[in-house]
Order: sequence, then C-alpha cells, then structure tokens
Amino acid sequence: MPVDFDTIVNLSKKRGFVFQSSEIYGGLRSAYDYGPLGVELLRNVKEQWWQSMVRMRDDVVGLDSAIIQSPQVWEASGHVSSFSDPLVECTNCNTRHRLDKLEDPSQCPVCGKRDTFTEAKDFNLMFETHMGPVDTDENKVYLRPETAQGIFINFENVRRTSRLKLPFGIAQIGKSFRNEITPGQFVFRTREFEQMEMEFFCRPEESQQWFEYWLEARRQWYLDLGMKPESLRLREHESDELSHYSAATYDVEYHFPWGWDELEGIANRTDFDLRAHAEESGKDLRYYDQETNERFFPHVIEPAAGATRTTFAFLLDAYSEETVDGEERIVLRLDKRLAPIQVAVLPLSKKPDLVETTQKVADLIREDYDIEIDVTQSIGRRYRRQDEIGTPYCVTIDFDTLDDQQVTVRDRDTMAQDRIAIDALPGYLAERF
Ligand code: GAP
Repeated sequence: MPVDFDTIVNLSKKRGFVFQSSEIYGGLRSAYDYGPLGVELLRNVKEQWWQSMVRMRDDVVGLDSAIIQSPQVWEASGHVSSFSDPLVECTNCNTRHRLDKLEDPSQCPVCGKRDTFTEAKDFNLMFETHMGPVDTDENKVYLRPETAQGIFINFENVRRTSRLKLPFGIAQIGKSFRNEITPGQFVFRTREFEQMEMEFFCRPEESQQWFEYWLEARRQWYLDLGMKPESLRLREHESDELSHYSAATYDVEYHFPWGWDELEGIANRTDFDLRAHAEESGKDLRYYDQETNERFFPHVIEPAAGATRTTFAFLLDAYSEETVDGEERIVLRLDKRLAPIQVAVLPLSKKPDLVETTQKVADLIREDYDIEIDVTQSIGRRYRRQDEIGTPYCVTIDFDTLDDQQVTVRDRDTMAQDRIAIDALPGYLAERF
C-alpha cells in the first residue's frame, strides 16, 4: 500500500527532513529548507549518483559550472525563445494556471467558474536578474534553468584538458531555477531545486545504442538503491511532449501518491546544443577524430535527474508501517548508503560511566559512519525514533557493557539483536555496510 502524501510531509517536518522556507515569516510558497536529516539524505543521494556516474567510470568526468552564465548561452540553447509554458488567467478570481495541466481546460480549479479563462500566453520560466548596479536590459542575466548548458559550453575545455576520446560524458550536480507556474506537491516541483545531469557525447551513428544503454543503467540505479520495481517505470514521450532539443526522450517515472510522474528524463539531444553554441559563439566545437581524420559534432545522450525530487521519492518508497507485538511500528527502510544516520549509539541510562563508554564506542566508528548519540527517553522510544528516520543499526551500551566490554547491535529491518565485543564493532559494521 503506497504511503499517502500527508503522512510523509508530516514525517518530514516532524523529524527534521524538510521545513517550509521562511517559516517564521509565514513561509515562502514552494521554497523548502532541508533540515539536519534531510540534508544528509539529499547529500547521500547526490553522493551515490556521483559515485555511479563519475567515480566508478573511466569515461565520465565531473564539472561545476556557474549558475549565472552569459545570456547568449540561453539565446543559443533556445531557452529564451522556447522555454515556456502556456498560461491562462481566470477573469473571475485572477488566478493563473498552466493550461496543459488543467484537468478541465474550461473550468477554473480555484473558483470553479467556467469559461472565464483568457487566451493562453506563453510564459517564459527563466528567472531574470541584473548583473551589476544598473537595472537595464543590457545587464539582464538569467539563473540557469538546467545544469546541462554549463556542460555544453565547456565541452571543448573539458575535452582538451581531460584528453578524453569519444564516447565520454561530463556530469554535474547543482541548483537550477524555474519560475514554475504551478509549483507544488511538496518538494516535487519547486522554483529552486537541484539537478544531477550528465551529457554523454558519442559518434552520431552510436547514439541509439548509447541511448538504450543509459535507459537501462539509469533505471537500474534506482533499483540498486532499494527502490521497489513496482514503483518505477520507463515511459516514452509522445512527439508533442518532446522538448525543443530532443529527438527522443524516455522518463523514468515513479508511482507518487497522485499517480505516475517524472523522476528523470533521458533524452537523445542529437547535436542540437553543440551546433547551436558553435553558431552563436563562432567557435568550432566539432570533435576531431585522429584515427579517421574526420571533424564532426558529437551527438549527446542526456540522463537528467532531479536530486531533490529523487530524495522525496526515496523517502516515499522507504516508508512502511507494521504491527509488532500489537504495537504499530513506522520504519523507513532506506538503503544503508542513503540513511541520514547510519548508526545510533544509545546508552541505556545517563549514568556517567555509561555515557563515557558511549563516547568511546562512538569515537571508534564516527569516522566511517554518520552516527548519532541519543541519551534521552526510554530505550523503546529511542528505537522507534531511529526506525522512523531509517537508521539501519542501533548500538546499545548497557550496564553489562561496563563489565564484559560488549554492546548490543539491533537491526532496523529484522529487529534481531546481536551481542558483540566493542573491539569487533568496526568489523561487524563493515561487513554489513
Ligand atoms: N537538461 C534537461 C532537463 O533539465 P527536465 O526534464 O526539465 O530536463 C530534469 O529536468 C529533471 O529535473 C526532472 O526529471 C526533475 O527530476 C527535475 N526537475 C525539473 N524541474 C523541477 C522542479 N521545478 N522542481 C524539482 N525538480 C525538477
């Protein structure tokens, strides 16, 4: 049974995963802050993506490009002319809506009146600001709406300095900004969000083969991190859904509480972007193949995922409720690599001897794991809190520990407990992580 939306939003707030931004001022709509647990979970999601896309591969390197780029980047990429959604305004209640997302295009979802919409107008989603102290059109710049263009404009820099030969990829994680008309569903669609994108450059005749490769590799990444197979699917875009740059796109979709929706887009961007930037900048961005003596624009396969959206999906997917000995137990069954706290260290009481040993145990493992020491409340309540935030192991220091130098390790999923020597704890955990 999938978890309902409000349950996970409430858990996020209650346990410190995600807070409404600017809450003390009444909150800023669609902006969120990641709390102590949320920031760890989000970092772990990004870390796992980087690990699989960059560190484990010889053919992909990383990049961190600027958020504010030359406005010419967005002229060339087509975002200034085409990155827009159709917007209608209700003449009765003055609310604005995305026409393509309305359930009934003739009825306002806010006031319920029919046939009150204005003609649809294209609304550009890019945030504008000004560079420097003068607000003129010449100083206008944009906050990037995707990380991808920072990669395309650095294609030649990266190729030259890394000496990579086709096929190769450039990966980037970072913030993007879109003035979404209808943000919502918690952190699913926000105006400021984080993306994890990789542009994979290949010979044009190999693009289909790499497209299929990345579809499968990306789907598998979610499964390897514990997402349930029935929560995921690949869906091909219809021709009228394709972005202006794309020859073919599949979405990795997740079964959210409101239905199937996009987690990641995998697009065949052909040579659209390199060609466009070569034209706009006057620089030759073709690739020279020394073996065949050819010069050509590589084609690009792009797996583009949302870090914040994916983090939300992992939270939803991990949530479970069960009854144990007549008591309800909430467990976040997060993969051990994603869990914000990996090991909780819990003294049975606040007695100084026990707290001192607790510190010693924590120091033994803190370099290798995200740990938390929790000394408050009964041990049962502390176990329940750790289950609810997804901590895979709890290490309990009890009165016997002082004599036998052993601790009890409790497994989140099975609730089985092992009694092991403190010295053996690093090895015991290493085997399990
Ligand atoms: N470079 C291609 C590109 O940006 P996209 O499908 O528009 O493609 C990629 O975005 C991913 O970024 C989406 O699948 C989604 O996970 C995430 N994303 C896009 N807009 C978002 C928003 N407003 N809020 C949160 N995540 C968003």
